[in-house]
Amino acid sequence: MNVLSLISTKGGVGKTTVAANLGGVLVDAGLRVLLLDLDSQPALSSYYALCASREAGSYELIAQRLTTPGQVISTTVIQHLDLIVSNDRAGNISTLLLHAADGRLRLRNLLPAFQDQLAHSCGQGSSIYALGLARFLQGDMMSACHLLFPQLENSLRHVLSDSGIDTSKLDEEMLQEDRSLSGLLSNRREQLESVFGIDLIYTIDLLFNLKGSPCLRHELAHGKLASGTCYLHSSIYACWLMYYLVCLPLQRFWSTHVAPQLERISL
Ligand SMILES: Nc1ncnc2c1ncn2[C@@H]1O[C@H](COP(=O)(O)OP(=O)(O)O)[C@@H](O)[C@H]1O
Ligand SMILES: [Mg+2]
Repeated sequence: MNVLSLISTKGGVGKTTVAANLGGVLVDAGLRVLLLDLDSQPALSSYYALCASREAGSYELIAQRLTTPGQVISTTVIQHLDLIVSNDRAGNISTLLLHAADGRLRLRNLLPAFQDQLAHSCGQGSSIYALGLARFLQGDMMSACHLLFPQLENSLRHVLSDSGIDTSKLDEEMLQEDRSLSGLLSNRREQLESVFGIDLIYTIDLLFNLKGSPCLRHELAHGKLASGTCYLHSSIYACWLMYYLVCLPLQRFWSTHVAPQLERISL
């Protein structure tokens, strides 16, 4: 995670304009960007239209140390360009930080909380998917299963967080941790169904999670997926299912963008 700050004591020199456009350029280059609007005049917050808008923003981040992505990160209409909006019109943050013991360091200490959120950049996750799907199409099921199946859990979490749904839980020592696939399927099922539909979630449950099923997620995670199992119908179907999941967001562009490209490549 890289942090870029745009600072000038003078107003009107182009900080907001540069921040917004730099963010757009970096997303185009394949990075995941989180814009953090800390200006009491919230110009950066209205630069891009919002897709999912959160009530919390820079004030809750700084004053309450709120870093839960689903509560504080708004998403813009540009995929992978997210935003923490400025909601400190009265300029209370500067006074608060001036009198806080950790005032000079608070933001720096809070930023690592977004590391995970930004790590799912298009680059990292998608290259594993691409390799896994290539191995699958080549018939190398052992590599395909081991590359693709571990991605499922995190990808579901990612889709839920993008829709503003919290995918973490507090353990008995009050430490925050990610919910596992079983945890998501039992505690966030309704939300998953609203995004993917009941049938698809049921199929995922049947293949990857339910006791008595092939239990692919757990078998693999515990090193119990025997090499022969990777060639069973259930594993082959699971790889196809993951291919389908990856294609889902492309469905609405299929006839205009994807199909013509596929035809061009196959010629
Ligand atoms: N490179 C530029 N060339 C011309 N006008 C610019 C440029 N960068 C910003 N502006 C304009 O200058 C004004 C102030 O820019 P802004 O980004 O809001 O500054 P700041 O955030 O530093 O207060 C805006 O009207 C913006 O459109
Ligand atoms: Mg500005």
